Amino acid sequence: MNHIGNYIIEYHEVESTNIIAHEMVTSGKFKHGTVVWAHHQTNGRGQGNNTWQSKPGKNLTFSILLKPGFLPAGNQFLLTKSISLGICDYLSAWIPGFQIKWPNDLCFQTRKIGGVLMTHMVSGSYLAASVIGIGLNINQTDFDPHLPNPVSLIGILNRELVLQEELKSLCNRLNARYNQLMAKEWRKLDQDYCAVLRGFHQWSEFFTKGQLFEGMIEGVDNFGRLLVKTRSGEVNAFNHREVEYL
Ligand code: BTN
Repeated sequence: MNHIGNYIIEYHEVESTNIIAHEMVTSGKFKHGTVVWAHHQTNGRGQGNNTWQSKPGKNLTFSILLKPGFLPAGNQFLLTKSISLGICDYLSAWIPGFQIKWPNDLCFQTRKIGGVLMTHMVSGSYLAASVIGIGLNINQTDFDPHLPNPVSLIGILNRELVLQEELKSLCNRLNARYNQLMAKEWRKLDQDYCAVLRGFHQWSEFFTKGQLFEGMIEGVDNFGRLLVKTRSGEVNAFNHREVEYL
């Protein structure tokens, strides 16, 4: 079944597609699966206080509006998993080597190619609406030197792509994962997410509260917390920004 991309609203230039999507949610007038797509954002938002930089007409910058009324609010990270997996599926169909860096950065080896910014509205104990902003570098060849290790598909494939076609094929992949979420194939989503999660079941270095420690990612719980096992066997749960790793 198709949800995402059934309705596409295309803009030449906006401040941020997430702002438009939020206004639509607030007004209560939006169709489930609507995609708000802009060729240029003048004030694209990134995670935390960051901005999202993207050269006009070069990349995909869009927001999806969903009504995931079947999903308990306590399981909202399953939606994050489905979305990041859908993007990873789309990228991996081009070439292997893409991974998800917890919670939802899309990376090629150690370089970031895309990011996701999500907000959810809750009604009772279920999700009423979700806004999912996606930025994916497609045809941009040069980046702000201050950005840490960015990459785009053109930099990997050496081939310019047609944004409209890429948006369509990305929506197909997102729909396939959203259907798994609706069908409650949550175990499968979790297994597939862990299979492409950078650092999963590998000893590596983590940094928290000024301290470096060696740990191994055991998974991500339903609240989205990263579960890291230490050498002593203890498993700690970290919220986003409480822990860093490479
Ligand atoms: C991140 O920092 O990794 C998340 C970036 C999310 C960027 C996208 S671009 C489309 C949508 N509109 C925004 O203003 N931000 C998101």
